[in-house]
Amino acid sequence: MRNLVSIILAAGEGTRMKSTLPKVLHQICGQPMLVYVLKVVLKVGCRKNYLVVGHKKEKVIEVLRNSLPLKKRGIEFVSQTRLLGSGNAVLQVKKNLRDYRGDVLVIYGDLPLLTGRTLKRLIQTHFKEDNSLTILGAPLENPSGYGRIIENSNGKGLRIVEERDATPKERRINRVNVGVYCFKLKDLFRAIDKIRPDNKKSEYYLTDVVQILGEMGKKVGIVITKDSNEVEGVNNRKQLANVQKYVNMKNLERLMLTGVTIVDPPSTFIDSTVGIGRDTIIYPGSTIFGKTRIGENCKLGPYAFIQDCQIEKGVEIRASFIYGAKIAERAKVGPFSHIRPGTFVGGDARVGNFCEVKKSRIGQGTKVSHLSYIGDAFLGKGVNIGAGTITCNFDGVRKNITRVGNGTFVGSDTKFIAPVKIGKRAVIGAGSIITEDVPAGKLAIARARQVIKKKKKM
Ligand code: UD1
Ligand code: MG
Repeated sequence: MRNLVSIILAAGEGTRMKSTLPKVLHQICGQPMLVYVLKVVLKVGCRKNYLVVGHKKEKVIEVLRNSLPLKKRGIEFVSQTRLLGSGNAVLQVKKNLRDYRGDVLVIYGDLPLLTGRTLKRLIQTHFKEDNSLTILGAPLENPSGYGRIIENSNGKGLRIVEERDATPKERRINRVNVGVYCFKLKDLFRAIDKIRPDNKKSEYYLTDVVQILGEMGKKVGIVITKDSNEVEGVNNRKQLANVQKYVNMKNLERLMLTGVTIVDPPSTFIDSTVGIGRDTIIYPGSTIFGKTRIGENCKLGPYAFIQDCQIEKGVEIRASFIYGAKIAERAKVGPFSHIRPGTFVGGDARVGNFCEVKKSRIGQGTKVSHLSYIGDAFLGKGVNIGAGTITCNFDGVRKNITRVGNGTFVGSDTKFIAPVKIGKRAVIGAGSIITEDVPAGKLAIARARQVIKKKKKM
């Protein structure tokens, strides 16, 4: 690769999203839109990538830090304090490029569907034709909302006109500006200095440099992409939904072709970061996000929500929410359970109907079958937890631990007042409130004795 750096514009507010969240942080199948753009830019292998941030920049930086190893990938933030337009946004990087000689790729942060292939094609053409600027264009059946690429009437070069500034005749042109440009650095900043905010939005439009460079006698080239999907810029929630649908379908197709059954693709949402083994069946209404790994022969859904989990083979999860948990082979979860981060459900274990489990270890073959809350607990192997059992883990200050030994039988409606430790193969009578440790092999009953009295006459 020749000398190339990139500038990614992500400072805008995204007014048309009508949101308190910066536009570039809106999620597409579990990942912020800007992460898609960064990942594709990184494929090109630039020496440095400058990310221009402005509106709620702290939030944007924080989210990206959690999504990508920024320093390692040569990503540096540059601030745009006043949001005066895309031209002004690029200008903010001028000081960072003081000692740089080479070319610059500029890309908008709201183009999540752009592919590395198209970017590389643009860059190759740029170098091959030795252009001062190469722009990416696309013919769209419905070009509304986009800037149009127009041949100057004097036959001299190109210009881009935004829809709101275009004449009715110009609006009929269907070749749109995608929002990706490759510049010779020395020409870029000379042209940017000449941009004037003489348009309906009174902004410094980067797109004006197309005409300016032409007038300076510089060579402006164009690369056309025919894939209209790639071009979709996300400016409002309608476009966000379209893009999400497209990305999701791509993810599902990838999985189906590797042997995963997806019963109803339109109602199933899976992140591109998810891996799923063969012969796993995903039933309708399921969502699987984040760093999730799923083994072979699982049955997930209907209505399973799974995020950042490791799920081994043969697991069944029905109508449940599971975050940050590990579920071992052949375990069954649900229907209607909530498994929270830090939980391990052992092989062949069962967490059944209407249960919540938080930061706990459920041993192999253990059954928590109905209506329980298990929090900060260690349940051994082969434990039977009766319906309605609750670990009272929080004393108002601290979270306390409950331990239950292998093979113990816990009667229904037991309350464990933690911290408490129950030995192996103990038995807890139904309805007990256990406040003290129970030794191995013993029976504990902690409830008021039933009394039978003569009824008073009414
Ligand atoms: C822009 C193009 C339009 C093109 C379309 C493609 C301009 C003037 N118009 O319009 O020709 O067809 O993209 O999707 O460029 N930004 C900043 N700072 C600012 C303003 C914007 O960083 O002061 C960033 C935004 O965060 C965004 C990008 O620049 O990532 C483009 O801005 P946006 O408002 O989305 O421009 P469009 O109206 O989509
Ligand atoms: Mg846009």
